Amino acid sequence: MLSKTDRDYGTPLKTSARLVTLEVDGREVSVPEGTSVLRAAALADVAIPKLCATDSLEPFGSCRLCLVQVEGRNGYPASCTTPVESGMKVRTKSEMLERLRRGVMELYMSDHPADRASCAGNGNCELHAMADAVGLSEVRYGFEGRNHLDAARDASNPYFAFDPARCIVCSRCVRACEEVQGTFALTIEGRGFNSAVSPSQHQPFFESECVSCGACVQACPTDALVEKSMLEKGVAERAVTTTCGYCGVGCSFKAEVKGDQVVRMLPNKDGMPNHGHSCVKGRFAWGYATHPDRVLTPMVRERTSDPWRTVSWDEAIGHAARRLKEIRAKYGPGSIGGITSSRCTNEETYLVQKMVRAAFGNNNVDTCARVCHSPTGYGLKTTLGTSAGTQDFDSVFEADVILVIGCNPTDGHPVFASLMKRRLRQGAKLIVADPRTIDLVRAPHVEATYHLPLLPGTNVALINAFAHVVLSEGLAKEDFVRERCEWPAYELWKKFILEERNSPAAAAKVTGVPAEKIRAAARLYATGGNAVIYYGLGVTEHSQGSTMVLGMANLAMATGNLGRAGVGVNPLRGQNNVQGSCDMGSFPHELTGYRHISDTAMRASFEAAWGVRLDPEPGLRIPNMFDAALDGSFRGLYVQGEDIAQSDPNTHHVTAALSAMDCVIVQDIFFNETAKYAHVFLPGSSFLEKDGTFTNSERRISRVRKVMPPLAGKADWEITCELSAAFGYPMRYVHPSEIMDEIARLTPTFSGVSYEKLDRLGSVQWPCNDKAPEGTPVMHVGQFVRGKGRFVVTEYIPTDEKVGPRFPLILTTGRILSQYNVGTQTRRTANTAWHHEDLLEIHPHDAEERGVRDGAWVRVSSRAGETTLRAQVTERVPPGVVYTTFHYQSSGTNIVTTENSDWATNCPEYKVTAVQVMPAAEPGARRAAGTGTEGQGADPHPAAGR
Ligand code: SF4
Ligand code: SF4
Ligand code: SF4
Ligand code: FES
Repeated sequence: MLSKTDRDYGTPLKTSARLVTLEVDGREVSVPEGTSVLRAAALADVAIPKLCATDSLEPFGSCRLCLVQVEGRNGYPASCTTPVESGMKVRTKSEMLERLRRGVMELYMSDHPADRASCAGNGNCELHAMADAVGLSEVRYGFEGRNHLDAARDASNPYFAFDPARCIVCSRCVRACEEVQGTFALTIEGRGFNSAVSPSQHQPFFESECVSCGACVQACPTDALVEKSMLEKGVAERAVTTTCGYCGVGCSFKAEVKGDQVVRMLPNKDGMPNHGHSCVKGRFAWGYATHPDRVLTPMVRERTSDPWRTVSWDEAIGHAARRLKEIRAKYGPGSIGGITSSRCTNEETYLVQKMVRAAFGNNNVDTCARVCHSPTGYGLKTTLGTSAGTQDFDSVFEADVILVIGCNPTDGHPVFASLMKRRLRQGAKLIVADPRTIDLVRAPHVEATYHLPLLPGTNVALINAFAHVVLSEGLAKEDFVRERCEWPAYELWKKFILEERNSPAAAAKVTGVPAEKIRAAARLYATGGNAVIYYGLGVTEHSQGSTMVLGMANLAMATGNLGRAGVGVNPLRGQNNVQGSCDMGSFPHELTGYRHISDTAMRASFEAAWGVRLDPEPGLRIPNMFDAALDGSFRGLYVQGEDIAQSDPNTHHVTAALSAMDCVIVQDIFFNETAKYAHVFLPGSSFLEKDGTFTNSERRISRVRKVMPPLAGKADWEITCELSAAFGYPMRYVHPSEIMDEIARLTPTFSGVSYEKLDRLGSVQWPCNDKAPEGTPVMHVGQFVRGKGRFVVTEYIPTDEKVGPRFPLILTTGRILSQYNVGTQTRRTANTAWHHEDLLEIHPHDAEERGVRDGAWVRVSSRAGETTLRAQVTERVPPGVVYTTFHYQSSGTNIVTTENSDWATNCPEYKVTAVQVMPAAEPGARRAAGTGTEGQGADPHPAAGR
């Protein structure tokens, strides 16, 4: 039988260094000061019955089931709300206690359906378990219950149902929504027998503020709140601990399984990134894995105008390898390449780059991080010495000032946002630098001290102005800089920053944020205690993305905010394994662990292990591959789990490049947009169908475990191995653990990583090696990875993308909670109930000027192309800025984005496009400028394999 949660100690862990010793039923136990008697008893292996308490929530003391006796005291205190005291002698069993508990339980049971078999938990309900524990066999008041039995069931949420008849009004759900999730969507209304749980203002769950995180369902001790999948599929037979396949928070889950079917995904209490919490995607939106749209059979065709032929695996792989070899023989080693997937495992991305380098014989490998966080790699490596966030997520609890720049954690990284909101409710201060009024600016019991709604494209001016305030007001920690950083570079940077053009007054003209507000926010960052920066694609996806990352690292170094808990510079990574795909050598210039391909000694270690000579020259980046394809020199591409035709900028350019190639091999779980230009389709596997590891935003390597067999017969790593073997370079592994062993042998920052260690510790954060055998939660302690930190001058150079009479508004883009990336997965789940189309947010002033009504169609045109979207008139965006998400292929957002990109890494400038918005009669106009053609391929979705 699987329990709703793992062992429950009743109340949360306390971390006081002072230990208190007491006796519980004659057993001596020492616990941190502040611990409850209930938890101390659990630690002494004495189980006290309880209902309203659970160790993920602060105690509430409402059910009175956990009563105990304390020697020398009168009465029967609730053990969950009684803190331990030194020398305390607690008795948990006596006739009186048992009588009292039975009386309490009798009242609860009289108000609850008696039929255990009807519980979704099938006897797993905590209420029934407690009735057994207190020895309640009869209920004198009958089971009719006067309270909620005729109250209507609320099944409005797509994923869980609320049955008031089964509710014991213990308030665990209400507290979970407040304490764990931070949404405050639930209340208990009424008093005594008339009290009842209510979402928002008597609304159904679906219409309330509820964000479907599932914390209340997790906390509910009865089946009042229960997953619909449990009701449909019944109780699971086994559980497999694995890692969420969606975002870079990397939440740990227990996949509960019946046969080969997932019954539910329960967040893992021992999961280090999430501590038992989840969001709507990981918790509920896993149904895409078995969606009928999954392509389960390999397919080939000679030309993209031919119909697809369903073929055997052998034929598909043989055909793909033969075509790549022919191209290579005819056009040279540089004519083919590969793209790794940030959705696949570390082991799988490692194999793709290995195949490209060792089998194809070039370094033409790149990853989707090119279009998101490549500036992070450049900026943090240059200044600090390594391409990753500096802290673990829990470090936020040591932060006093949190600076959020260009990210929207409640939508993009929701479980981390809940942690952050908890810290903010405890009193940390918040600065938000974002053009939009994101939810964090004002959430229940959270309010940003400063919201800086800067114009898209002006980040560097803002960060330079922050630094100007720090330096001109003597707020820099120069002792720290002298000890930890290159002093001459600091002096150079200081001189530059102190120039008037970097002052708040100058920045105000550029950013649109008043100088006084910039000054005040900078002072708070520099003087408010531990200050930490979290940022996202609103920083990186700019023509100056790398400059901004350098600028944030400069600011953190100058104020001494690096190298301990509660501070740092932290990218919030978008995809589940974007950190890992970068770590694994997916970039054309780097092998694993960010080591440059030109490093002869390092390259030699790979040559010895792989038995080949490696090209010392960096290969093509994704945009260079497209350019070379249009030139005719790049003609064959293997794409592992990445929809470049939809996710890369300037769709017309991308599809023209794909159309120009002789052999495009797409390996994916669905027939995506890129597959429309493919010659070979290899059906991939979802995260539920394979073993491996993902690395999250905090550098945490976590196991992905096979929950069900691959639906198409092969895991992605097996497909790559077979393709490589057919190409003439066999890679022999029996299990992905052997691939990780090879990575560990070849990569100093991974040398201590093994599946055995991951199984033992749950997860580790790299660097994990002899110096840090259990991993490194906080980086740069005592010394930066590069030795001395390096300040870099960050000149603000405005983007070439300018507004003007033709295109007077700036379009910027982002995500929404219920959808993920280009929507391939989430659009195939009930998450569409919340977001079934991308909308264009436009300020009322701009809408009125153009005669645009809320909900009406508008044409969005830029220099690159045009598309139509439905308008949402809202003050979330400032005047002059419009915003949309990019989750639906139909919205074609990337048709309008330009080819501008970051100067250092080619990361596209998705966040700044000059556009015009005008009313449109109907949806449909999507075209690239100058082509007159629709931006999407004309190839219909094939029936094969569906
Ligand atoms: S729904 Fe569940 S958690 Fe909420 S009050 Fe009722 S029994 Fe308690
Ligand atoms: S699902 Fe999450 S947000 Fe919704 S009511 Fe429950 S705890 Fe609150
Ligand atoms: S926060 Fe991210 S990793 Fe966690 S459950 Fe949600 S999507 Fe998955
Ligand atoms: S568990 Fe202590 S009062 Fe409910």
